[in-house]
Amino acid sequence: VTENPQQPEVNIGLVGHVDHGKTTLVQALSGSWTDQHSEEMKRGISIRLGYADATFRKCPEEAEPECFTVAESCEEHNVETDVLRTVSFVDAPGHETLMATMLSGANLMDGAVLVVSATEDVPQAQTEEHLMALDIIGIDNIVIAQNKVDLVDRDRAVDNYEQIKEFVEGTVAEDAPIVPISAQQDVNMDLLIEAIEEEIPTPERDETQASRMFVARSFDINRPGTTWEDLSGGVVGGSLVEGKLEKGEDIELRPGREVDEGGQTEWKPITTTIRSLQAGGKQLDEVRPGGLLGLGTGLDPSLTKGDALAGQVAGEPGTLPPTWHSFEMDIDLLERVVGGDEEIDEISTGEPLMLTVGTATTVGAVTSARDGECEVKLKRPVCAPVGAKIAINRRVGARWRLIGIGTLKE
Ligand code: GTP
Repeated sequence: VTENPQQPEVNIGLVGHVDHGKTTLVQALSGSWTDQHSEEMKRGISIRLGYADATFRKCPEEAEPECFTVAESCEEHNVETDVLRTVSFVDAPGHETLMATMLSGANLMDGAVLVVSATEDVPQAQTEEHLMALDIIGIDNIVIAQNKVDLVDRDRAVDNYEQIKEFVEGTVAEDAPIVPISAQQDVNMDLLIEAIEEEIPTPERDETQASRMFVARSFDINRPGTTWEDLSGGVVGGSLVEGKLEKGEDIELRPGREVDEGGQTEWKPITTTIRSLQAGGKQLDEVRPGGLLGLGTGLDPSLTKGDALAGQVAGEPGTLPPTWHSFEMDIDLLERVVGGDEEIDEISTGEPLMLTVGTATTVGAVTSARDGECEVKLKRPVCAPVGAKIAINRRVGARWRLIGIGTLKE
């Protein structure tokens, strides 16, 4: 596993149909597998959403686009390459977790690479589903990687290209460059890096904003039997989307924890100190948005054990949005079930919904429903601002299906 010289500064979603080559592409660019995380797992900060970092570089003695690379030295010119920037790929697996998280406005992606295999007709189910998600969230910094071109002849590649063009017409990806590549054979990686550098710039961030982090995982990293003097505090992992965090500062977590007071349970925010910060596989004193962070805290590890704090929001004390036990939302139902033809019925009073708000997923019972809006009572409270986007899922048969997007109302 190669070390990245910098903290990643931009998150790039990697989306596309099963087997079209997302994992192979991440591996070609970063030398790591998003779905294994062995190194990070050991350090205890990997999260449910797959992340892998890659550092883009440029050979100072080569012309564009051949100069773009991920190699630390250029064999042809026998020189070290210059670092352009480190990016973090957020892998969108076939399952719905990340889709729902993306749709819930967690701002985890600043742009996206849509991987489309040249060997199949366009669109395949998830190609369509993921592009629709990008469209809904309004992510328009997109590069399309037409993968597996090594498996098709020229005519087939051109036909496939035309199909992609037709498919993206009228969507956020309408003007996205389409780069033919072979992730497995390392073909045209320089062109792909060039396109990503051009189409997916690092967003300008306002460091003076209060910090906001979406917690996706939490751990107890102590081995069983550790004596209390040697105990490490609880570890919290997730994504910082605003502001910056410094070692030694205090943070608040909401909704916090459930406390029992005289037979009544109540949720109380937790405040703790950041004892260590980890990003891009390095210990840092200060972190900015981009990639995945691990925070070592002063919390009792029993509080962070087994993802107990997943779905919470962390940030500068006193600045976090409210905690909701029930809320009203405006609803935009999809026209039809994603990847299917079934129409979607109106939401009705009494039905259970699975709601994703930021990185939190909770079941809510609909207590009243009217045209275009409804009120839900949550099983677990969530921390979110008014106006937050909510991915709404309904149980259809054995699985939860995305049926629409809600907006949290006052
Ligand atoms: P999921 O994680 O299941 O969604 O799949 P994925 O999109 O990550 O696809 P993956 O990278 O696992 O690739 C699927 C298969 O296609 C693997 O056997 C790869 O070796 C192969 N493959 C990926 N890219 C290329 C390519 O450019 N050329 C060829 N010939 N095979 C490829």
